[in-house]
Formats: sequence, structure tokens, C-alpha cells
Amino acid sequence: MQHYVEAARDFVEAHAIGLTVAVVTGASLLALRRWMAGGVCRSKARLDGKTVLITGANTGIGKETALDLARRGARVILACRDLTKAHMAANYIRQQSGNSNVVVKRLDLASLQSVRDLAKDVLINEDRLDILINNAGLMMCPKWKTDDGFEMQFGVNHLGHFLLTNLLIDMLKKSAPSRVVIVSSLAHEKGRIHFEDIHLDLDYQPVVSYRQSKLANVLFCRELAIRMKGTGVNTYCLHPGVVRTELGRHTFPTSLWKNPLLCPFLMMIKSPREGAQTSIFCAVDESLANVTGLYYSDCALKTPAPAAMDDSVAKRLWALSSSMVGLV
Ligand SMILES: NC(=O)c1ccc[n+]([C@@H]2O[C@H](COP(=O)([O-])OP(=O)(O)OC[C@H]3O[C@@H](n4cnc5c(N)ncnc54)[C@H](OP(=O)(O)O)[C@@H]3O)[C@@H](O)[C@H]2O)c1
Ligand SMILES: *[C@@H]1O[C@H](CO)[C@@H](O)[C@H](O)[C@H]1NC(C)=O
Repeated sequence: MQHYVEAARDFVEAHAIGLTVAVVTGASLLALRRWMAGGVCRSKARLDGKTVLITGANTGIGKETALDLARRGARVILACRDLTKAHMAANYIRQQSGNSNVVVKRLDLASLQSVRDLAKDVLINEDRLDILINNAGLMMCPKWKTDDGFEMQFGVNHLGHFLLTNLLIDMLKKSAPSRVVIVSSLAHEKGRIHFEDIHLDLDYQPVVSYRQSKLANVLFCRELAIRMKGTGVNTYCLHPGVVRTELGRHTFPTSLWKNPLLCPFLMMIKSPREGAQTSIFCAVDESLANVTGLYYSDCALKTPAPAAMDDSVAKRLWALSSSMVGLV
């Protein structure tokens, strides 16, 4: 016994510097990790009797957002294109939240017909809609087209949601105070709306298209807020952070997220649950009750890029989007 204690003391003395470095490094990494986790939604707001619809809720940020809102007692509609994945997510959410009021409806945002069918289903079969969360999205896919011939990222991330929101807006008004939450991205900052070549047919670059679609999200949020003044329908858009989801599926194998060798790197990015916090904050936080049209990150207000605050571009995008989806 004595022998071990002495050996331990000798070890500590011999390695004093190394051990100090190890402890300090460990503590710093933990502190860094907590900081990377970003903002947390601290609101305890309940949603009993309220209805929420979330697009792309079968995985990633959308699924974690749905779980949190189900825990608050809401009726939660998962609007997803893959019904098998959606039902698995619904089962998981019911089980984890203890809330059985979680339903799946089919929505493929790459088809305007599918958007119209879903909206019709909601208008006929639901009593109310308190929170709409436009979360679904895809990033940097190849040069693909939607059913209606739109460039895929602009079509799904912006146009599909633009039509969906407009078709549900009367129900949101009827249920006011209500909220529209739009999941954008920091990627909007380098974006531009290419009015001269909206599908980027001349020079398709996946990242340019993604940035355009995410800038469109912020501009839509802003213009919708102006149009909804006085109706009790508020709008919010946000950057969720850099989050470990399947979003990168078109650029790298997202199964990498499960590789233990990447642990140090993975520490630097958010889990889906952490990534859902700002969406949840915008959907429920009481402090935002009288605020509309603004942009958030880490559960706090953030100033978006100048291009995202240009009202003339926002109006022009609205007019273009309306005509593209056949709303005028
Ligand atoms: N992860 C990040 O670091 C990050 C950063 C900034 C912004 N965002 C934004 O966060 C949002 C959620 O992304 P995520 O990270 O959670 O990615 P994700 O794990 O890939 O989830 C995206 C969701 O969107 C759905 N979706 C894709 N195309 C669709 C379509 N045509 N119709 C209906 N649903 C469709 C997907 O359905 P399937 O499973 O069937 O494909 C999936 O449910 C996106 O708007 C993204 O731009 C994410
Ligand atoms: C929002 O406005 C209403 C009506 O003016 C007021 O009663 C309420 O306290 C305000 N809420 C917040 C969080 O500012």
C-alpha cells in the first residue's frame, strides 16, 4: 500500500507540469464546449390547446424542435416528404414527450401540388394553427429541379415555404396571436438574389444557390412581417448555429458524425438539440410577443447582412415568388 502511495507521489512530482497542462486543457475544453453549445431557450411557456406545424421534422433540427414543443403540450404536425421516416420520428416524439397528439402529414416542398394538398388538408381538418415553423431545407445539392422546374434549393428552401405560408395565413390570423418561424442561416450573409437568372441556369454553383435561398428566407420574413402588421401574426427568422445533422448529405457522408476519431472536431459544433434552441425560442418565448420581422441567433437578436434588410429587394422577391407559385 505504502509503495503505491509513494509511487503516486513520485509520479505527480515528476509530471507536475504535464498534469497541470492536462487539467487546464480539460477545463478549457469543457468551457469551450459549453460556449459552442450556444444559447438555450429558458422559456417555460406551455402550448396546451395550441397547434404547431413543422416542415422537415423527421430528422435534425426539426425533429428536436418538434419534441420540445410536444413536451409543452402542443398538438404537433410533422409535415414531411418521407412518411416512413416521419412515422418513426412521430413514435419517438410521442414516447419521449408522453404527448400522443403528434401527427404526420405528407409534404414535398419540391412540388407545388404537394404544398397545396397539405394546406388543403390542414384547412379542412385542423381547428387552428398557432405556430408554423418553416424548417425543412437542403444544402448544396447538384443542379436539380423541382417538379415545377424551379432550381431545387430556391424551390424547396424558399418557394415551397412561401406558398405554404400564404395558403395557411388566414388560419394563422384566425388563431392570433400566432407565429411564423423561418429557419434561415448565417449563409445568407454572402447571398444575393439573382433576379436576372433566378435558377442560376447560366452558372450553377451549389453554394451560391444555398446562400440565395437562405437570403430569400430572411427577406420573406421581413416582408411578411410588414404585410401582417396589426393581424397578430408575427414572424421570426434565425440562424440555428453549425449543427450536426444530415444537412451536409450532398457534400460529405454525414455518417462521419458517428466517427470517434472526429471527437475533437465534433465538440466544436452543436448537437441537433442545441441547434433547435433558437427555433424554440422564436416559437414560444414570451419576450418576443410584440416583436416581428427580425433575425435571431443563439436565442438572441442579431443584425442580418445589409442585403437582408433591403426592403425594395424584399418586395421584388415577394412579387417574383408570388408569380412563380401562381398566387397572383
Ligand atoms: N445543420 C446546420 O448546421 C444548419 C446551419 C444553418 C442552417 N440550417 C438550416 O436548418 C434547417 C434544418 O436543417 P437540418 O440541419 O436539420 O438538416 P437535415 O437533418 O438534413 O434535415 C432537413 C429536413 O428537411 C427535409 N426536406 C428536405 N427536402 C425536402 C422536401 N423537398 N420536402 C419536404 N422536406 C424536405 C428533410 O427530409 P428528408 O429526411 O426526407 O430528406 C429533413 O427532414 C434547414 O433549413 C437548414 O438550411 C442548418
Ligand atoms: C405586448 O403588448 C401587450 C399589449 O400592448 C402588453 O400587454 C404586453 O405586456 C406586451 N408584452 C411584452 C412581452 O412586451
